[in-house]
Amino acid sequence: MFKLKILTGEKRIQYKPLSVAVKFLFEDKKLESTLNNTEKIFNIKLSELQKKNFLGKNDVLTSSRYDGKPDEVILYKVNKEKDFSPDYFRSKIAGLISQINKSEVRNLHIFIPSFKNFSEYFSSEEYFYRTFVEGIYYGNYYFSIKKEKDDVKELTVFLYADNDELIEQAISMTSVIMKGVNKTKDLQNAPSNELFPEELANRIKKMFDNEKVDVKVFDEAALEKRKMGGLLAVGNGSEHKPRMIIIDYNKDAGKGKKKIKSIAVVGKGVTFDSGGISIKPSQGMSEMKGDMSGAAVVAGLLYVISNLNLPIHVTGIIPAAENMPSGSSMRPGDILTTASGKTIEVDNTDAEGRIILSDGLDYACKLNPDLIIDLATLTGACVVALGSHVAGVFTKDEELAQSLFKIGMQTSEKVWPMPMWDEYHQLNKSEVADVKNLGGRWGGAISAAKFLENFVNPKIKWAHIDIAGPAGPHEFNNYNKKYFTGFGVRLLFEYLYSGGLK
Ligand code: BES
Ligand code: MN
Ligand code: ZN
Repeated sequence: MFKLKILTGEKRIQYKPLSVAVKFLFEDKKLESTLNNTEKIFNIKLSELQKKNFLGKNDVLTSSRYDGKPDEVILYKVNKEKDFSPDYFRSKIAGLISQINKSEVRNLHIFIPSFKNFSEYFSSEEYFYRTFVEGIYYGNYYFSIKKEKDDVKELTVFLYADNDELIEQAISMTSVIMKGVNKTKDLQNAPSNELFPEELANRIKKMFDNEKVDVKVFDEAALEKRKMGGLLAVGNGSEHKPRMIIIDYNKDAGKGKKKIKSIAVVGKGVTFDSGGISIKPSQGMSEMKGDMSGAAVVAGLLYVISNLNLPIHVTGIIPAAENMPSGSSMRPGDILTTASGKTIEVDNTDAEGRIILSDGLDYACKLNPDLIIDLATLTGACVVALGSHVAGVFTKDEELAQSLFKIGMQTSEKVWPMPMWDEYHQLNKSEVADVKNLGGRWGGAISAAKFLENFVNPKIKWAHIDIAGPAGPHEFNNYNKKYFTGFGVRLLFEYLYSGGLK
């Protein structure tokens, strides 16, 4: 990990010692002459072999110093027809930063190509620039609780772009966004022996010293008073007791005459999911430390929104519990009464997310916001359906589904709309309670979403996002291979920033 400094590149470039320059060349008819030109610009001498390879199959070329500075030049060959997407620069730059992580480089000069070549792929020039900055932060992320700490070196990154003002804005804004993303990832990657509901609440409190943010935590007594029987039941098997965490941003502005829009964001906060009495198989169970990813995204999102001062009222709602087997656990067959008054028949204690969300969504509805979005690592079935890098979005509001899909393509936090037909309700029917927490194997992600719908006021616009896949590490880009990913923070920030609530 580097201690990063990201700056706008000066017109007159000064290469200090230990510098690397990075440039992108288009794979077109002019590639050979561009390459010869590049040799002159950087005062480097490429070998015949290097040139031949780059003009042929290789799409990266590293050349060391010939006479002058920088010490090293890295050229990437971009083929827009072949492998380009809005994630291209984010992923390339992230890969580069993690690659040079152990090297002695101290100055990195990145030459951003002209936006006009890419305008069809990005919503704006500023967003195009932001993907480079995102890549830098992503490539630099690191999590460990080792005794031996790696020494942290400084890296200054200079970004050269056509538009100075926009790149400067992109750097400052993206730095806040990625700080939020990294905070989300730190919460997700923390092990469950350190991070249990009470500790999650403490860490979230510490994230906010902003006057406009108010963090409230309901302990067991408060949960009982509020009759949050779903959250209490799921948390009851653990020594670490459940909490409900409420993060309120811009609450007072919401009350004024000039009415601003309000959104409630609900995040599943299961700090460890053993399955409870319906215990999970041991293989891969350690991944369930990340079953509070929805909660972590809510906290990171509120961090970003409050630090960038968005003119909306946002309430983050986090039901947090540890799902454990013990003598005090809820059992299959139990019937729970939730805060809404509705009863749940517990058929499988491993379908615990939907139970705690029933109390979270009920709390959200009682605030009567303009929009509710919940995020949850809810079902393995959603990962079976869409793969590990895409989230399912469940909503009856087609416009909302479309906007989230579109923003997902920009941010490369991709979501895919799933059906919400009412016929699926029959899967959750119970003889003895209002609803059963298990819908069966087929369409498991959908029956889970339909279960949640029982606890949402139909008059309020609502989307459920199942992030069971993309919350965790996967191989689909250069920046999500190792750790829990923070998926959802950039997606929802971008949705709200680009006026999604209007
Ligand atoms: N937390 C899991 C879902 C999950 C699975 C998240 C894989 C991330 C990766 C959830 O609580 C769960 O256990 N779901 C069950 C539901 C089943 C019992 C109906 C599942 O998906 O198997
Ligand atoms: Mn579970
Ligand atoms: Zn779970």
